[in-house]
Amino acid sequence: MLRHLQTMFRADRYPALLVGLDDGDDAAVYRINDDVAVIQTLDFFTPVVDDPYDFGAIAAANAMSDVYAMGGEVALALNICAFPDTLPQGIVAEILRGGADKVVEAGAVLVGGHTIRDNEPKYGLSVMGIIRPERVLTKAGAQPGDVLILTKPLGVGVITTALKASVAEPTHVASAVASMKRLNRRAAQLVQEAGAHACTDVTGFALIGHGLEMAQKSHVRLRIHLEQLPFLEGAVRYAEEHRFPGGTCSNQSAYERSIDVAADIEEDMRLLLLTPETSGGLLAAVPPDKVRHLTARFLEMEEPCWVIGEVTEGEGIHVVTGERA
Ligand code: CO
Ligand code: CO
Ligand code: CO
Repeated sequence: MLRHLQTMFRADRYPALLVGLDDGDDAAVYRINDDVAVIQTLDFFTPVVDDPYDFGAIAAANAMSDVYAMGGEVALALNICAFPDTLPQGIVAEILRGGADKVVEAGAVLVGGHTIRDNEPKYGLSVMGIIRPERVLTKAGAQPGDVLILTKPLGVGVITTALKASVAEPTHVASAVASMKRLNRRAAQLVQEAGAHACTDVTGFALIGHGLEMAQKSHVRLRIHLEQLPFLEGAVRYAEEHRFPGGTCSNQSAYERSIDVAADIEEDMRLLLLTPETSGGLLAAVPPDKVRHLTARFLEMEEPCWVIGEVTEGEGIHVVTGERA
C-alpha cells in the first residue's frame, strides 16, 4: 500500500530526512540543524480497557513510545479524538485527562487536537519529539555479539482478550494496565546512556515481528532465550486457554516462516510470542561490555529490564530453550 508513497517521497530527494517512509522505522526523523532533529509520529486506537482514564493514559503512552524508540524526548502532543455523540461528556473528559497526565509526565506540552464524530470511540496523540541527529536509534545497527534487552513484560494482548471475554482476573488486568501506562521515557534515556546500537518498541507486531524488523534492517539474527522472557502474571494461563486476539493469526502468517523455534516449545507459547502487545517495552541491542552497568542503572532507577538474548550472524529469529545467554 505504501509503495507508491515511497516512490513519491523518495529519501534521496529530501536530504534533511534522516528517517522516512523507506526506512519503516518507529517514527520519522527530520534534521533541522547540526544540533536538533525533529521526531514525528502518531498513534490512536479503540478502547483496550473499560476505565476511560486508563484508556486515555495507555493510548498516550503508546503514541509517545515511538519517540522513545528512536531515543528522543517528547516535546509537543496533539489530541486525536473520535467519539460518538452518545458518549457522556464526563467519559470524554476522563479519556482526555488520562492522556494529558501522561503528556505532563513526559515533560511535554499538549497544544491542541481535533475531534470528529464516530460510532466507535478512538483516541490517541500526534507527537513531536526532539533529538540530537547523531543520537537517533533505529532498528538498523544491531551487531553480532550485542545483548538484547526488553523493558516491559509480555502478555498484554492475551490479558485484554481475556478481559473482553469477562474471564480475566482483576489482579492480572491491573498489572497489565499499569504496564501499558508506564512511559518508555526513562528506559529510553538509559538505553541511550548505554550507547545501544539499535532500538524499537514492542507493539502490534509482537516480540517476534518487531524483533524480526530489527534482524532484517540490521542484517543479523536474534537469538531469544525463552526462559529469560518476562511474562505478566496470568499471560501464560490465558495463552493455554487460547485467549488470542485476531492479530495473533495475522502475525503468525506474516512471520512464522522467518522464525526458528526450538522443537520443545509448545504451540501456545509460540503463539503468545506472536500476540500483539499494546504500549509494550523497548527492545534494544546493547554492546556486551555495557550490559552489566545498564542493568544496574535500570535497577537503580527502579525501571524494569530483562536480558532476553543476543545478536548473532545470520538472519531471522531463533527462539531457544535450556541454554543461558
Ligand atoms: Co514502534
Ligand atoms: Co506506532
Ligand atoms: Co528506533
